[in-house]
Amino acid sequence: MDSFAINLSNWNERVPLHAASLEYGLDRFRSDPGHLSDVVQFDRDRLGSLEGQRVAHLQCHIGTDTVSLARLGAAHVSGLDFSPPAVAVARQLVLDLQLPVNIVESDVYSASEVLGRGVFDVVYTGIGALCWLPDIDRWANVVSDLLAPGGRLFLREGHPVLWSLDYEAHDSLIIGHPYFETAEPIIDVEDTTYVESESRLQNTVTHSWNHGLAEVITAVMNHGLTLTGLIEHMSVPWAALPEQMVPTSGGEWVLKDRPDRLPLTYTLQASKG
Ligand SMILES: C[S@@+](CC[C@H](N)C(=O)[O-])C[C@H]1O[C@@H](n2cnc3c(N)ncnc32)[C@H](O)[C@@H]1O
Repeated sequence: MDSFAINLSNWNERVPLHAASLEYGLDRFRSDPGHLSDVVQFDRDRLGSLEGQRVAHLQCHIGTDTVSLARLGAAHVSGLDFSPPAVAVARQLVLDLQLPVNIVESDVYSASEVLGRGVFDVVYTGIGALCWLPDIDRWANVVSDLLAPGGRLFLREGHPVLWSLDYEAHDSLIIGHPYFETAEPIIDVEDTTYVESESRLQNTVTHSWNHGLAEVITAVMNHGLTLTGLIEHMSVPWAALPEQMVPTSGGEWVLKDRPDRLPLTYTLQASKG
């Protein structure tokens, strides 16, 4: 099997566990019309008003961030993901909430073919999205294709320093993986996912790639975007180093010991001239 098929099998199997989880909390979206995902809430001030804007959300998973963007006033949000069960859960959520959102099943590299070129004011993506893509330059080309002139990219992502760490280390920070993008994938075998669940995965293998911060910025600039914001954060929305982290009140996790040692995520913004 190729990397795409290997990752698709893994993601398909995670979907029912995530949809049933407290962490994704689908019921809260249904019971509270003002509820936003913690991830969108984290960047709310930086996102600003989406009133009247057309938004593309790449790798939208089960739609929790997608509907949160719609709740910030977007005129229309198009979510895109390659996983049929994720698309099905996201579509049901959108139907239940009656929001101006459509969800499309596609590989992210085909996004501009299926969603349209030059039609979006905002492309939003992140939190465990770029690591599934082998080629950051190709991704930046897609983002640029999707954006209308004057449109902006909004990316919140796991920091490449975090992705380079050995996440099984108990009490120290150990570099276990490449910081830079590599031709060969990082191969992991894991029978759990990042939500609380008794279930064990059958499709345990994943292929991922790291993308250094300068590689991301260079790719974005190479495709006609201008960097307008870059912030490195000391928190991450999942327990990335489970034995070395404590939760914050905002649904994020920070290092227990000297959290200022390294960045765990970043928010990058860029605009198309
Ligand atoms: C961790 S989620 C990111 C979304 C968001 N942070 C969340 O948790 O809802 C990663 C998503 O990327 C999707 N994905 C992985 N590779 C993809 C590809 N090549 N094309 C489209 N979607 C992909 C997976 O199906 C999964 O839904």
